[in-house]
Amino acid sequence: MQITNQITTNRITPSFRMYSEHRSNVTSYNYWTTTKFFRDDLNWNDFVFMMHNKYKDVDKVNIQCFACSDGEEPFSLAMKLDAYLNEKSAKFFPIVAKDFDKTNIYYAKKGVYEVRPAELCDIERECDMRMSKYITVGNAYRVHPNELYSNNSMIPVKIKNNLREKVLFKHADILNDVQNIPKSNTVLMTRNMWPYLPAKKQVFLAKELAKQLDESSLIVLGHFEISQGTHKLLEEAGFEMTEIYGIMCKKAKKFLPDEFSDAKIMFNKIKSLKK
Ligand SMILES: C[S@@+](CC[C@H](N)C(=O)[O-])C[C@H]1O[C@@H](n2cnc3c(N)ncnc32)[C@H](O)[C@@H]1O
Repeated sequence: MQITNQITTNRITPSFRMYSEHRSNVTSYNYWTTTKFFRDDLNWNDFVFMMHNKYKDVDKVNIQCFACSDGEEPFSLAMKLDAYLNEKSAKFFPIVAKDFDKTNIYYAKKGVYEVRPAELCDIERECDMRMSKYITVGNAYRVHPNELYSNNSMIPVKIKNNLREKVLFKHADILNDVQNIPKSNTVLMTRNMWPYLPAKKQVFLAKELAKQLDESSLIVLGHFEISQGTHKLLEEAGFEMTEIYGIMCKKAKKFLPDEFSDAKIMFNKIKSLKK
């Protein structure tokens, strides 16, 4: 699927549907999408270490990756978690990955892609030089060494079964599926998709997520969201940015006036007991 952001004055108009007719097979088994392995608008190291710390005392973490496209994003996260946390990564799996485009989900389930050589280097680096545990690089002979770093050469890769079984793909529209998102210990990835939704639907979604998720959960945005101000909608709905770019959590609960006076009475009682 070719997705191109169409910028008209200050607004981005939804375009993935308009371009959906332009899907083209680049090999006998692959097709083109606007996503990539380890898309670099997220610091994947910080993200994984943040989750590891935040959920160190929790038995199960619910990773829901909406707008997963053809699966490169959830497979990136699965590789990173496995490579960096080893057996401690078990509680993060399966990652539930959803997209409202059925063709995306069809290809995601196949786990077969074509990547440029530079992307292959990114994958290798991001999974601590253990890529061969997760990915089979096929038909590399088709790439002539002179072309290896040319922008035109594409290398076929296949996700190995041990990684495929860590991601569960489903077809879903996030607007109709919010109620099925677990409330607690959820890491909700909604990256590079919000600005495609009509403005009113974005406000609706931000409010619904504020109702659905509690303080233990995180929302992960992409650069497309930050550049278009989606984080501000989420702030208005009760979330705040964490120290990591693109990752938001519920605002820390402030003392309500009543609770504050209760705390004050308690504090004074303790003070008087100490005298
Ligand atoms: C640009 S891709 C982003 C892929 C990936 N998240 C990334 O950051 O690389 C946008 C994806 O959002 C999906 N999408 C758009 N609206 C959606 C919705 N309401 N529910 C679920 N997926 C949606 C599209 O089908 C497309 O695969």
